Amino acid sequence: MVIDNLIFEGTKILRQENIENPMLDAELLLTSITKKEREFSIIYGREKIDNKSVLKYFDLINRRKKKEPIAYILNKKEFWSTNFVVDKNVLIPRPDTEIILFDIKARFKNSKRLSVLDIGTGSGCILLSILKEFKNYRGVGLDKSKKAINIAKFNSDLLSINNRSKFIKCDVDNYKFDQYYDLIVSNPPYICSHKIKNLSVGIRKFEPYIALDGGKTGLVTVNKVINKAKKILKIGGYLYLEIGYDQSRLVCQILQKNNFKVVDKLMDYNKKVRCIIGTRLK
Ligand SMILES: C[S@@+](CC[C@H](N)C(=O)[O-])C[C@H]1O[C@@H](n2cnc3c(N)ncnc32)[C@H](O)[C@@H]1O
Repeated sequence: MVIDNLIFEGTKILRQENIENPMLDAELLLTSITKKEREFSIIYGREKIDNKSVLKYFDLINRRKKKEPIAYILNKKEFWSTNFVVDKNVLIPRPDTEIILFDIKARFKNSKRLSVLDIGTGSGCILLSILKEFKNYRGVGLDKSKKAINIAKFNSDLLSINNRSKFIKCDVDNYKFDQYYDLIVSNPPYICSHKIKNLSVGIRKFEPYIALDGGKTGLVTVNKVINKAKKILKIGGYLYLEIGYDQSRLVCQILQKNNFKVVDKLMDYNKKVRCIIGTRLK
């Protein structure tokens, strides 16, 4: 079959299943097999593809048809202009989370060396993006999932940041720290357990439950993060906490009760507060 026909057929299958960007996905999946740029498929549409590759392509189309996220099929996701390796053991990095990077880049532009802790590091996307941005920072990523830690380490090797980053498999509650941090970032699981069933199939069926489930109130891990941060953040240090769109008021209260001052709230593209920034007062 030729490229044009493969894309046409793949798009048709995905469209029938109401996949959001069927043609783009079909092109990306074909490109992942031909190992050529996407533009190649557009320009050389009459190029013939061998039978083995055609079969592989329809396998991928079939996975996408069942709503598996394209990032898991391609094993990569771009975050803060870097490709991160991802698989079903880590949350797919979200554009929303990039608001943390925008703020850190601006707020700390004149800062010296800082030590950073990322709680619930997943693919390592937040910590590694900070370390990529600030070449003199060092950081630690924690995650209670061993498989996530392996992916984060893999990403840090790929980005050649392994000399400034360390990844530890551990529940935040049990983290035995040996230093105080200037900056703590966290995108913890914050979805109420009973609301997980309302998420889209792509998230609910494919993304790791421990990356989503925030317990009955949604704030179980948020509380744990704040509890740890109040002990291991330097006084005057900053905590960046990503939260759900309706959790701002409650999370600000918890921070204040734990001797944090809320210094800023960051909004997403829908003008919802999605990140609270606190500093440790004492
Ligand atoms: C929402 S994901 C965030 C992943 C990544 N930081 C990102 O922004 O894409 C939350 C991560 O926290 C981890 N996690 C959940 N509970 C934890 C706990 N109690 N201690 C440490 N890590 C935890 C999960 O395994 C998951 O990788």
